[in-house]
Amino acid sequence: MEHVIQPLILFFTCMMTISYAEDFLQNPDFEIPPSNITTNSQYILLTKANSIPGWSFNGTVSYVTSGANLLFPRSGGAHALQLGENGAINQTLRANTDETYNYVVSFNLIPQSEGCANNRTTVNVTLCENPFRYRSMAFSLRRNLTANLWESHAFFLGRLGVDESVDIRIASVKAKNSKDGNNVTCWPMVDAFNVKMNPLPGWYSGNALANGDFEVGPGFFKNSSEGILLDEEEDIFESPLQEWAISGTVKYIDSKHYKVPQGEAAIELLSGDSRSDPGVRIDLNLNTNYTYTLNFTMGDANNSCVGDFTVYVQVGNNIHNFTMRSNGTGSASERSITFKSEFPSLIKTPIILYSVRESRTSYGVLCGPVIDNMILEGSDERKIGSYGWRIKIHDGVSIFSMFTALVMLMV
Ligand SMILES: *[C@@H]1O[C@H](CO)[C@@H](O)[C@H](O)[C@H]1NC(C)=O
Ligand SMILES: *[C@@H]1O[C@H](CO)[C@@H](O)[C@H](O)[C@H]1NC(C)=O
Ligand SMILES: *[C@@H]1O[C@H](CO)[C@@H](O)[C@H](O)[C@H]1NC(C)=O
Ligand SMILES: *[C@@H]1O[C@H](CO)[C@@H](O)[C@H](O)[C@H]1NC(C)=O
Ligand SMILES: *[C@@H]1O[C@H](CO)[C@@H](O)[C@H](O)[C@H]1NC(C)=O
Ligand SMILES: *[C@@H]1O[C@H](CO)[C@@H](O)[C@H](O)[C@H]1NC(C)=O
Ligand SMILES: *[C@@H]1O[C@H](CO)[C@@H](O)[C@H](O)[C@H]1NC(C)=O
Ligand SMILES: *[C@@H]1O[C@H](CO)[C@@H](O)[C@H](O)[C@H]1NC(C)=O
Ligand SMILES: *[C@@H]1O[C@H](CO)[C@@H](O)[C@H](O)[C@H]1NC(C)=O
Ligand SMILES: *[C@@H]1O[C@H](CO)[C@@H](O)[C@H](O)[C@H]1NC(C)=O
Ligand SMILES: *[C@@H]1O[C@H](CO)[C@@H](O)[C@H](O)[C@H]1NC(C)=O
Ligand SMILES: *[C@@H]1O[C@H](CO)[C@@H](O)[C@H](O)[C@H]1NC(C)=O
Repeated sequence: MEHVIQPLILFFTCMMTISYAEDFLQNPDFEIPPSNITTNSQYILLTKANSIPGWSFNGTVSYVTSGANLLFPRSGGAHALQLGENGAINQTLRANTDETYNYVVSFNLIPQSEGCANNRTTVNVTLCENPFRYRSMAFSLRRNLTANLWESHAFFLGRLGVDESVDIRIASVKAKNSKDGNNVTCWPMVDAFNVKMNPLPGWYSGNALANGDFEVGPGFFKNSSEGILLDEEEDIFESPLQEWAISGTVKYIDSKHYKVPQGEAAIELLSGDSRSDPGVRIDLNLNTNYTYTLNFTMGDANNSCVGDFTVYVQVGNNIHNFTMRSNGTGSASERSITFKSEFPSLIKTPIILYSVRESRTSYGVLCGPVIDNMILEGSDERKIGSYGWRIKIHDGVSIFSMFTALVMLMV
């Protein structure tokens, strides 16, 4: 026999979307006030004698209460922290589960005022996993990506095993333009650090893509209809959207507030962001003997995003532009590409998908096509043996995640 037939049948296909509502961080939304408040003013400077429970701080940090002049996202309650000059807060997240998971944090970034709603409102999130491994990323507020002034962002915290921990530090960033930087009223505010624990990538029968349905990503805020902005991330191992590299700005949308073609989450490719076209990418080892079909759903988020969408899809050397006219009311249709990989098996085949046009909702917010449910299936339809059986070999179930394997052992 020259072929190994591998119709691996999975006994379970659940568990893709386990998430835990438990709070991993203490006082994640700053609703437990400083220990020793003596005034009721809107801005209270934290001091050694008046610190914020659960967090350490350094530099100028204020405890801020919302008011008529300053509305906070409902998802974070009535209080936030403002990170002023050299202001930083940190807290240690400890994995107290008995397995390894991926951790992702979502948080709200809030400008002091409309005039600060630009990259003068920037925070730097740094992770220290151990003395040798630091990772940091700056998050800037940009305009017109959401209907409100604030934005929700996400950051991958790491793959943490039993009792492993990571120190999360959020610091203010002084604007490069010193004129703006001196504007003390423009320091950033942060709120609602929502940590989600995701199972490690799992591959399921008939799909060579893990997380092709985009169900494994950052946690949503129950009370927010803004989705979560996914910032540029080239490294799939550090992406908040498991297994996918992100270019441009992509919005992670939930089925509670948007039209999501399948499951509870999808991605909306926000067009018109200056740096690069919004989209996702993965590089895979494909078999040159197989014929592959890439299927996905393309639609609109039912957010009054009216216009013509064009999604550029590249698989290896095959390029297709898919177009649709959106009337903004939540339509969706299946798309498909069939191709043979021309890349030698040892070279990874890029699978790239991005939006090439700019669209806006009727209220001026950047928007674009929704992509969901990507399925890559390879089949080798050749005659084997002297009996002339036609067999179909599925590629894409040959690797199991540690998580899946562990669950199988337990079954
Ligand atoms: C609260 O603040 C007062 C006045 O600043 C100080 O004397 C006291 O020690 C503080 N209490 C605590 C628990 O930090
Ligand atoms: C706290 O801030 C001071 C001065 O801004 C700095 O020298 C120090 O390294 C900071 N400490 C930490 C733990 O970040
Ligand atoms: C959501 O908003 C409602 C109404 O403003 C509020 O009562 C509720 O506590 C909020 N829930 C969360 C999880 O923030
Ligand atoms: C914040 O960081 C400092 C210095 O790295 C550390 O000593 C402290 O324990 C951290 N605070 C929390 C709440 O994790
Ligand atoms: C600081 O920013 C605020 C809000 O944008 C603005 O109203 C104010 O004029 C600015 N002040 C200076 C000195 O630039
Ligand atoms: C963010 O913090 C890290 C570590 O403290 C530092 O190396 C990096 O330059 C900072 N980035 C920005 C944009 O301030
Ligand atoms: C963002 O939206 C505001 C209000 O709708 C508008 O005034 C502004 O021109 C927009 N900015 C950009 C960069 O499109
Ligand atoms: C803010 O954006 C402007 C223009 O895009 C850029 O020149 C500037 O360096 C940015 N500032 C920061 C702090 O990133
Ligand atoms: C493709 O098929 C040929 C002929 O059957 C075989 O020699 C080759 O090893 C196959 N390549 C892969 C990557 O399976
Ligand atoms: C992919 O789409 C094609 C064409 O619509 C269809 O024939 C095929 O069954 C689909 N495959 C999967 C796995 O959905
Ligand atoms: C797809 O669209 C892009 C941008 O409009 C264009 O540059 C490219 O030539 C198109 N490719 C194909 C195969 O139609
Ligand atoms: C919007 O498009 C959908 C599907 O293409 C269609 O069923 C619906 O009637 C359209 N609505 C309007 C207002 O044009």
